Amino acid sequence: MSKITDPWDHHDWDSKKYVADWAARQDEREAERRDVFELIARTLPYEQDVAINILDLGAGYGALSQFLLDRFPNASVVCQEGSEEMVKLGRERMARLNGRVKFVLCDFSKSGWCRKLNGPFEGVVSSIAIHNVRSHDTIREIYGETYSLVKPGGCFVNFDRMTPSLKQQKKWLAEAGFENVQCFRDWGRRALVGGFRR
Ligand SMILES: C[S@@+](CC[C@H](N)C(=O)[O-])C[C@H]1O[C@@H](n2cnc3c(N)ncnc32)[C@H](O)[C@@H]1O
Repeated sequence: MSKITDPWDHHDWDSKKYVADWAARQDEREAERRDVFELIARTLPYEQDVAINILDLGAGYGALSQFLLDRFPNASVVCQEGSEEMVKLGRERMARLNGRVKFVLCDFSKSGWCRKLNGPFEGVVSSIAIHNVRSHDTIREIYGETYSLVKPGGCFVNFDRMTPSLKQQKKWLAEAGFENVQCFRDWGRRALVGGFRR
């Protein structure tokens, strides 16, 4: 994956050191995200004991995936990631969940990425990942490919920076085909948005 920068941060997800430092910083702040993760879990339109298959886009080391696997004890997760270093770290950290987690290394900024994932999924989730691509056209395309990965009756929920705007993100989700598109919570610069597939 090429080096990714955005207007706010300089990320180097291909660097082992950068990924280790980011993960160490994030570990200290993990408790702050529990409310968001809880909201994402509640948004998935399934009973907790159902054997659903979830896709986590730009999963990182799997913080959200682990949370969802705890909440849905019969679920399995595919962690999609563009960084080899992050995949290595995620595989280490999620080793105890062997059999319920699969990592797939692929870049969601490259069109056709959805074909590398064995969808469809009952739920597709993402946390602070998609904005990394920066290009608005690419975000729109990612939403389009994501729609093809959602099973009828399922949903896509994205917690992310709302660039260029929440209104625009909702429009792209609707254009991708999602129904009942909504903002589940708005924190200002970040929001939880998503939609459902009929
Ligand atoms: C801020 S981290 C968030 C990780 C995780 N979702 C979380 O909330 O802990 C952003 C993640 O997006 C991944 N990422 C960035 N650009 C990507 C791309 N084009 N394709 C796939 N993953 C990407 C990075 O490798 C990184 O793991």
